[in-house]
Amino acid sequence: MINALRGMKDLMGEESRRYRYITETAAEIARRYGFEYIETPILEETRLFKRSVGESSDIVGKEMYQFTDKGGNDVCLRPEGTAGVVRAFTQAKLDRRQGLKSRFFYFGPMFRYERPQKGRLRQFHQFGVESFGEASVEEDFTLIVMLSEIFDALGIRYKVLLNSLGCSECMPPYRERLVSHLHDIEDGLCDDCRRRIATNPIRVLDCKNESCQELLKEAPRITHHLCESCNADFERLKSLLDDAGIAYEVDPNLVRGLDYYSGTAFEFVSDEIGAQSAIAGGGRYDRLVEFLGGKPTPGIGFAIGIERIMDLVQMPEPAREGWYLGTMIPEALPALLRFARARRREGERVVVEYAPKGLKAHLKGADRSNARYCGVVGEDEYAREEIWVKDLEAKEEQKRSLAS
Ligand code: HAM
Repeated sequence: MINALRGMKDLMGEESRRYRYITETAAEIARRYGFEYIETPILEETRLFKRSVGESSDIVGKEMYQFTDKGGNDVCLRPEGTAGVVRAFTQAKLDRRQGLKSRFFYFGPMFRYERPQKGRLRQFHQFGVESFGEASVEEDFTLIVMLSEIFDALGIRYKVLLNSLGCSECMPPYRERLVSHLHDIEDGLCDDCRRRIATNPIRVLDCKNESCQELLKEAPRITHHLCESCNADFERLKSLLDDAGIAYEVDPNLVRGLDYYSGTAFEFVSDEIGAQSAIAGGGRYDRLVEFLGGKPTPGIGFAIGIERIMDLVQMPEPAREGWYLGTMIPEALPALLRFARARRREGERVVVEYAPKGLKAHLKGADRSNARYCGVVGEDEYAREEIWVKDLEAKEEQKRSLAS
């Protein structure tokens, strides 16, 4: 027997129903906020992610499904959705339309060669949104509200973590301060952190190692070193969230694992799913479009990890729907198939059992397929060109014309 690869899962039965429910609920809310559907290729040039997510990130450094294709191109399976959407936005020259706001949503598989564990897969699915052309902090607020609304609609409880990662003015001097502090405590830090002092010092802040966290308690905090404009934005965002009654926690160690962020960064976490507690993450990336060759365009977005919320979703009980049709005699099958076609043309869901069976077996089949109506043609009904129909919800029976 051949099994799926490690860290990759089939979505079927209850899980595929949950997947569709999540993506449809989120898409409907995104539509209300003016976002439209975009689908970008799963395979992209490797340099797209090197330039955007960043060479010093774990995602690019260790986790990419990267290979050379038959044409000799260096390609990889997308580890996330933002870079591809930015590429598509720029490739379509939308960055050249002054004042245009473009808002997209997407969902689909992402690939990271991580060590699989609960809540961490190598192929997982995200629902994400990206908004281009809107620099005002009201957009940051709106995206956080929208994400809250999605989780509320899905019946999921969460905590909102918030930070600001500054801009090209305040981040470099802050980074210098941080590096100097990290050198002071270097001896006590883990190997990963020591390496990151040179490659990506900000990431040291979110090391999961307890002894590192203890040493980092005295580290300078970005929120204390924001420039005037970043500070004003952060204060305004907090007051908008306060006004809207959205609870949040400022977490100065929230730095995100991708290099393209500046300004607002946020994560939604759940305490009901174990160690991999982040159920969504996002933030501003005002320099990314330019960095990927487009005209400077502000951007902000987020992505939800669908597998992480799969078991938390409160789904409405599926209502009995449509028809189950069967016959007790083989001759009746062509007429039954015509009846099925007519119902489907009316937009009804219809499941047909082709093998002739007794009434009891058909009623069982109808129950199993969650049909509202069970229609069966026996010998008598066939002679009268009729079908026996039972409404499994109202528990009522009737005969109707097989030609209807
Ligand atoms: P991210 O934080 O890397 O951000 O991923 C977003 C979410 O995807 C995480 O919060 C988590 O729920 C889920 N996730 C990540 N890795 C895995 C995995 N190995 N297995 C299962 N779930 C996982 C991004 O990807 C950014 N592109 C988000 C964004 C959009 N920022 C701006 N726009």
